[in-house]
Amino acid sequence: MTAADQESTFADLGKVLVIIPTYNEAENVERITSRVRAAVPEVHVLVADDNSPDGTGDIADKLAAGDDHIRVLHRKGKEGLGAAYLAGFRWGIDNGYDVLVEMDADGSHQPEELYRLLTALRQADLVLGSRWVPGGRVVNWPKSRLLLSRGGSAYSRLMLGVPIRDVTGGYRAFRKETLEGLGMDQVASAGYCFQVDLAWRTVKAGYKVSEVPITFVERELGASKMSRNIVVEALWRVTAWGIGHRLQKLTGEDRKK
Ligand code: GDD
Ligand code: MN
Repeated sequence: MTAADQESTFADLGKVLVIIPTYNEAENVERITSRVRAAVPEVHVLVADDNSPDGTGDIADKLAAGDDHIRVLHRKGKEGLGAAYLAGFRWGIDNGYDVLVEMDADGSHQPEELYRLLTALRQADLVLGSRWVPGGRVVNWPKSRLLLSRGGSAYSRLMLGVPIRDVTGGYRAFRKETLEGLGMDQVASAGYCFQVDLAWRTVKAGYKVSEVPITFVERELGASKMSRNIVVEALWRVTAWGIGHRLQKLTGEDRKK
């Protein structure tokens, strides 16, 4: 298929914005934006940079100057992945986008697989790129990271009862209406548990969630921002949500008696 053929492939979905949060991704930002533009030329890209000390924001500005499909959201400082996405979603909705996509800057989420998410979104309200459904894979992750991710997903499923295999993943496509309906303004999660938070809210609000297989490729350049604090935040929040949810169910049932 040529670029021209692809121009309007997803026109039925409306305007698509791919939001790429960045913190110190100077080696990656040009590569990822050009891969997205080549893979699905009609989409627009928003780089949401938290004032990266390595100059990622300046590089993104130069890319935006040369391509009207690229925009940059400059934020004051490092406030976490979740906060950057929320700001990006609001920017996208305010600027008339119908579909908001989450994608990491480091190449772990392959732009060449974006068409799979967008295709599935025709029959869903949220599509998750999933490592843990048949056909999904992870390339080059150390054992420790595999355990953390699979454990995090399993624990979240157990605590919250979400019927999703890859509930922590960060390659996603939302319809605007889904974001508007899930209560974005009450989301407090800053780190990676933001992903669990949004998936759970989407399920609770009754939206249709589907998972498509992806191949997640560990970054080659730059460093992960995963930290002990991020894991601790995820653990306490998921535990608190799970307990709160159970209590609510109990008291709800009591009232019925
Ligand atoms: N603006 C901004 N601010 N961006 C951030 C911040 C922040 O505070 N922290 C991380 N990012 C950006 C990174 O620059 C990258 O583009 C993306 O968010 C993901 O960060 P990584 O540090 O590469 O994440 P990871 O590979 O360890 O984690 C991936 O897997 C997790 C578990 O499945 C991500 O996809 C997570 O979203 C996912 O929860
Ligand atoms: Mn990464």
